[in-house]
Amino acid sequence: MNRGSLGNSGGRADAGITDPERMDVETLFASRQQIVNMEYTKLGRSDLVVSRIGFGCEQLGGFDWGEVDTDSVILAVHRALEIGINFFDTADVYGLGRSEEMLAHALGPQRKDVVIATKFGVNWRTKRNSRRALTFLDCSPRRVTEALEGSLRRLKIDCIPLYQIHWPDAKTSIGSTLNALTRCQREGKIRYIGCSNFPLGLLVEAVGYCSMSSAQFLYNLIDRTAENDVLPFCKERNVSVLIYGALAHGLLTGKYVPGTKFPANDRRSRLSIFTPGGLADRYPVIKRLQDVASRYEMTPTQVAIRWILENPAISCVITGVKTAEQIEENVGALGWQLSQRDRESMTGVAGTMPEGSSSVESKNA
Ligand SMILES: NC(=O)c1ccc[n+]([C@@H]2O[C@H](COP(=O)([O-])OP(=O)(O)OC[C@H]3O[C@@H](n4cnc5c(N)ncnc54)[C@H](OP(=O)(O)O)[C@@H]3O)[C@@H](O)[C@H]2O)c1
Repeated sequence: MNRGSLGNSGGRADAGITDPERMDVETLFASRQQIVNMEYTKLGRSDLVVSRIGFGCEQLGGFDWGEVDTDSVILAVHRALEIGINFFDTADVYGLGRSEEMLAHALGPQRKDVVIATKFGVNWRTKRNSRRALTFLDCSPRRVTEALEGSLRRLKIDCIPLYQIHWPDAKTSIGSTLNALTRCQREGKIRYIGCSNFPLGLLVEAVGYCSMSSAQFLYNLIDRTAENDVLPFCKERNVSVLIYGALAHGLLTGKYVPGTKFPANDRRSRLSIFTPGGLADRYPVIKRLQDVASRYEMTPTQVAIRWILENPAISCVITGVKTAEQIEENVGALGWQLSQRDRESMTGVAGTMPEGSSSVESKNA
């Protein structure tokens, strides 16, 4: 068990006790430890203060992530709240509304106290006799209003703390989308505006138009495209960067080896990085993560997240999780530091990877 997880009794004299009543005390003590260790950050010029590890809720939508035990994800949400996570990222399209509904259910009354970030802009049409939907980009002003009403209803809240444009829609001018969003802001239905997957040019335009509190990008050790332009721009303009894909959809945990087979209902069955060749190509990065992790008594997962958290342009890492154990482990990326030498050695080996190697079909429902 690693330093940052609950199995650690931190060298206390009563470590190893077995009495059930004392065990409860032990768990409580460990929970408090985690709450103390949580780090928070303010998003852009907003007054939203969020945990640096966010809870990614796409998995809660139960679609295209293989078999997902919804009850386990709900328990993970409860555990996340206990250990101080107050930031939950979802989207209307995740599970075609199911992720938002399940998040509201899992959070219960606490949904009004945490920072929920949802997204719109990937619309969908369901097909008769099929679980799969046809998705398409739509950031038109009409869709802004329609999508927002749907999200408010499913999330059971009156105002969305952070409302993000999921993907840019080339058919709609950014000005008209932002106009519609600022109108909703004035009506009190959203507090702050964020974007996701915006290329630099569009980001520059958007920031010139209205206050953008956050921008979300794919970024991890094997896909560092965001470093080229959007990360420095966001840092300079005080737009808080939120990262997804931190674990390259589970690859950087090191648990997937060449030969792993994903079911057809798991997006990883269609991603080149999860083919036997793709996994073999990335083995040097996994090996380096394992080596570094063992020296810090951490796990490769925690080191992969830590490497991102130490980038000064990045505010928060949103990790997708399916179980309470996973979110506990991921939070263990906080509260310690990598040496410059280890950081550089990981960056160095990652630099040998094929470019853009972990992109996902994120527009799918
Ligand atoms: N803005 C966008 O366009 C966009 C796109 C995609 C995702 N997102 C957001 O980002 C979140 C994260 O999703 P992601 O696609 O970026 O995936 P990720 O965080 O790179 O990987 C998540 C997956 O890794 C595995 N995992 C996580 N923690 C683990 C641990 N401690 N030990 C072992 N396995 C662990 C889990 O799957 P297994 O257990 O099945 O391996 C989990 O589903 C989503 O929920 C969503 O909120 C945003």
